[in-house]
Amino acid sequence: MIDAALRDTGAAVDRMLDALLPPPSGPQARLFEAMRYAVLGGGKRLRPCLTVFTADLFGVARVHALRAGAAVEMIHAYSLVHDDLPAMDDDDLRRGQPTVHIRFDEATAILAGDTLLTLAFEVLADPQTHPDPAVRSELVRLLAVAAGGQGMAGGQMIDLMAEQSDLAEADIRSLQALKTGAMLAVSCTLGAVLGQGTAAERAALDGFGRDIGAAFQIADDLLDVEGDAAAMGKAAGKDAAAGKKTLVGLWGVDRARKEAYALADRAVARLDSFGAPAETLRAVAQRVVNRQN
Ligand code: IPE
Ligand code: IPE
Ligand code: MG
Ligand code: MG
Ligand code: MG
Repeated sequence: MIDAALRDTGAAVDRMLDALLPPPSGPQARLFEAMRYAVLGGGKRLRPCLTVFTADLFGVARVHALRAGAAVEMIHAYSLVHDDLPAMDDDDLRRGQPTVHIRFDEATAILAGDTLLTLAFEVLADPQTHPDPAVRSELVRLLAVAAGGQGMAGGQMIDLMAEQSDLAEADIRSLQALKTGAMLAVSCTLGAVLGQGTAAERAALDGFGRDIGAAFQIADDLLDVEGDAAAMGKAAGKDAAAGKKTLVGLWGVDRARKEAYALADRAVARLDSFGAPAETLRAVAQRVVNRQN
């Protein structure tokens, strides 16, 4: 059931992304082709689905939720394009296809990432995303924080530097909270911002997103050890060799898997006040730790 909800909502997200991405024409067509290639060629669409499902708790118009979700997915896709560059994780395969720098070239991959990042904010700032300018500016602010130095980009910096050093458990947790948790959390809080929820509702969804973010990165690190590259559409078995600091590396797979399940349970408990309408989000939390790709 949750798979059908993720598939159907993911398909609606794909249609919105297709409409929002520039057509591949004009003198800079190569840039637009690379952006479309990075975004439209697969991916689970977990983050925009979270935006839609949290927005549904507040009865938000579907088009508003899909536009905000598409903005989050653009930043996520940019983060993957740059994450795969030779200067970072140096990967050749993503979402079952050659990475953007392999299919195009490094300069195009850098520019496609830059342009996806900026397009995300253009979409959020557009009145079609919400009629109230105060809501739009809050969407922009929260996504900027989540993607920036106190969020994803900051976490990516620590992740790369940590290849050369040892990290304690708390440091690994905080690096992963930045590189992955911040974007998962904002995917959820944007739904509450669109729905003009209370501070308490926003905080509950933020906590939910942070917990599933932590669980999600452990699942990703488990898949690097145990997963099937064909099913994942990306290489496996690279983290240990690269010196990546993960809880799986620190604890081994069994304890890490237990921790991921405990985090998912804690995430679910944070939704108590939303009652039955949050059932889809609860199922997403379980799916995050129980996935093959
Ligand atoms: C991969 O994210 C990067 C991490 C934060 C671990 P996803 O596993 O959500 O990648 P796609 O979007 O499905 O390709
Ligand atoms: C990437 O983490 C997190 C991002 C912010 C993109 P990983 O480097 O583990 O993601 P994969 O395994 O390449 O998808
Ligand atoms: Mg990485
Ligand atoms: Mg990587
Ligand atoms: Mg990984």
